[in-house]
This record gives sequence, C-alpha cells and structure tokens, in this order.
Amino acid sequence: MRPWNTFIEGDNLEVLPLLTGEFSEVDLVYIDPPYNTGNAFAYADDIRGDAAATRHEAWVAMMRPRLEAARAVLADRGAMFVSIDDNEAAHLRLLMDEVFGEANFLAQVVVNLNPKGRQLGKGFATSHEYLLVYARDAARTVLDASSPDAVVESDFPLVDPDGRHYRHLPLRNTNKKFNPVTARTMHFPVYGDPDSGLVRTRPFEGSHEIEPVFGDGTPAVWRWSAPLIDERPGDLVCRRIKGRHGERIDVFQKDWLHREPGGRRKKLRTIWLAEEVGSTDTAVAELKEIIGHVFESPKPTGLVRRILATMPDDALVLDFFAGSGTTGHAVALANEEDGGGRRCISINSAEPTREGSNARLAGLRTVADITRSRLRAVAARHGGGLTEWVLGDGRLAQHDGG
Ligand SMILES: C[S@@+](CC[C@H](N)C(=O)[O-])C[C@H]1O[C@@H](n2cnc3c(N)ncnc32)[C@H](O)[C@@H]1O
Repeated sequence: MRPWNTFIEGDNLEVLPLLTGEFSEVDLVYIDPPYNTGNAFAYADDIRGDAAATRHEAWVAMMRPRLEAARAVLADRGAMFVSIDDNEAAHLRLLMDEVFGEANFLAQVVVNLNPKGRQLGKGFATSHEYLLVYARDAARTVLDASSPDAVVESDFPLVDPDGRHYRHLPLRNTNKKFNPVTARTMHFPVYGDPDSGLVRTRPFEGSHEIEPVFGDGTPAVWRWSAPLIDERPGDLVCRRIKGRHGERIDVFQKDWLHREPGGRRKKLRTIWLAEEVGSTDTAVAELKEIIGHVFESPKPTGLVRRILATMPDDALVLDFFAGSGTTGHAVALANEEDGGGRRCISINSAEPTREGSNARLAGLRTVADITRSRLRAVAARHGGGLTEWVLGDGRLAQHDGG
C-alpha cells in the first residue's frame, strides 16, 4: 500500500520541480506561507540585500516562483488553498490572479481563527485571516464547495413516521424572476387534500385545486414540473397555512435530511467560524497533545479537514510550507474516519529552530525535525505509514531516519 504521508526536507522551490511520476498530478495544494508580519524578512532568496526591494516586493518575489511551481504540479481537476492575513492578502490576491488567471478565482474565505481577537497593540482586535481559493481550471475542477459537516440537523425539525428527518420547502418558486410570463410551463394547477396531505396532478376525491401564488396573491410558478410531481408524490404534502390574507391551502416539498447517497451536503459559506474549524488555541493544544508545544503558529486540523472535504477522498494533497505537519495529520484523520485513500506530500526546509525555544529544548534543531516528529507520531497512532526524503545536491534521497 502507498503511504498516506510523505515528508521531504528541503527548500520548496528546489523540491517542487522534483515532484514527478506518481507525485506529479496533485489534486489539492494547501499552503500556509510565512505571513510577512514585519519581523526581519527571513525568506528572501536572491533578493537578500537589495535595498530597493520593499517588504511586499520581497515577499511577492519569494512567492511568485513557488506558486508557479505549484501550479505546474496541479492536475487540471485540482485546486489550491492559501492561508494569508492582512499583511499580504491584497498582494497575494493579485499575484494569484496573475499566476492562476482571474477566471479561476473561487473564493476568499474569512477564517475566524482567533475568536478572542488580537489584544496586542492599538486598533482593532483582529479575529480572522483568509483562505484564497483558486482552481487550476475552473471549468474542470472537481472541487465541491460543500460539506457534509455544514448540515445542521436542527434545520430539519420534522420527523416522518418512518423516522426520517425533513423540513418543509414551498413547492412554489419564491424567486420573483420566475413567474407565469418567464416560466409559462411551470404555471399549472395541482390537486391536494390538506387533511390527508396527498398531492396529485389530477383531481381526486376530496381534493382542492391549487394554483401557485406569491404571498401577495399574484400568480407564481412551481419549482417542479408536472411529470416530476407524478414521479415523487411521496415527497410532497398539502397543508393549510396562515398567509397574509388569511388561511390558504398550499403544497410543500418534504426536504429530507438524507436524500443523496452518502448524506446531504450543504454549500460552504465564505465565513468559517472557530467553533466549526478550530482556532489557533485548539491547534496549539492538538500539537501539544501529540508531540509537545514545539511550534508557535500551527493551523487546526479542523481547518484542513474542511478543505479536504471539498475534494474526492482519494486526493493527492501537497503542503509545501508544512511547518508542524498539520496537513499530513489532517489527511490521516480524514482517512481513518471515512476509509479514504488520500495521500499527502509535506515539504519543509531545515530552517533552524530558535535557540532556547521549546523545540530546541526538545532536541528538534530544525523545523523539518518538527514536521518529521509529528508525522511519525501520526503514523504510529493512526497508521498509514510515512516515507521520509531529504533534498541534497539537487536530488531526493531517503532520510536516514535520525
Ligand atoms: C506559517 S508556517 C506553516 C505552519 C503550518 N501550516 C502548521 O500548521 O504548522 C510556514 C512554514 O514554512 C516554512 N518555510 C519557509 N520558507 C520555506 C521554503 N522556502 N521551503 C520550505 N519551507 C519553508 C517555515 O519553516 C515554516 O515552518
């Protein structure tokens, strides 16, 4: 079996072009690059020392070739998610437009990762950052911007005698753009009995004739054609309701909680709350629990799992700013939960950890040591295996396991 996790130590700019063969068709890239928070810019390549390069230019110059290299390994059906905060959100958006094409922009999601808000410094207590989402090719991407987790069971308060949960949706089309003039064939009478609930397209004993109308009484249209109503009478119900002009009889769809195989999915909104995906605090706690508090700014696995849920369960995933290895951890958790066959390539450079930091005190001399240490712990706990590589002399070699 191919391992769920692969870790490569090295500068991502040198490693990305080496992703060939089974690793060359990546479905999903997630990265959380350095945010350029104004601390000494430690990530410049050949522009180090160029006084003319502004802080933003230096950051964009660092990111551009890496995004281009990422796009080159993305499959046509693939998509890329990038975490970013206010320091570079505007520059990143323009850069991604350039590299991926504006037409492939899918979303700028607001992620509420710090619900208490930043209390340091002046001004607003910033409590969010962003995820920029681009398709390799918007027309061909398999990204499904919906999630089974986003479905709230309490939205389906009614229970059928057979135990299935549902809610009532008006069969009438509530969008005023659709009316007997614009959608002539969808305006027809149906027949219903509010006592038995039965709905048919032809009159029957005890039925009332019901025309679709808006709340103000003007003519409307149905959402279902007559043949569809004939096909699915069990999914419709006739009821008496109190309208603006007194009681009337109307037809409703029984919208079931679990209609599609594999459960119902709900479109993801573009604001993701900490209670849905976790926060920086919960991310630190997750990391602490598995290898210790050895990294300052991990992402919560819940955030990455929501991203994973937008792609097929056998996706090849890539994170080339892997840090503490959250993405590889999230992939193992997702596979364990749904039996999927996702695989994840994590890349991080051998950036030294700070002298005196928790990581250094724990014997982790580089960030790559942190990534490896977490992914080993993940493989030991959740299975799925781990292969380790290290870049040297422009080639990948198996890591010696130290
Ligand atoms: C913000 S952190 C990522 C944190 C990660 N998402 C997590 O949950 O732990 C960015 C990481 O990128 C790494 N990095 C920076 N420049 C790099 C490069 N050129 N190649 C590979 N990794 C790099 C840094 O060592 C750092 O660990």
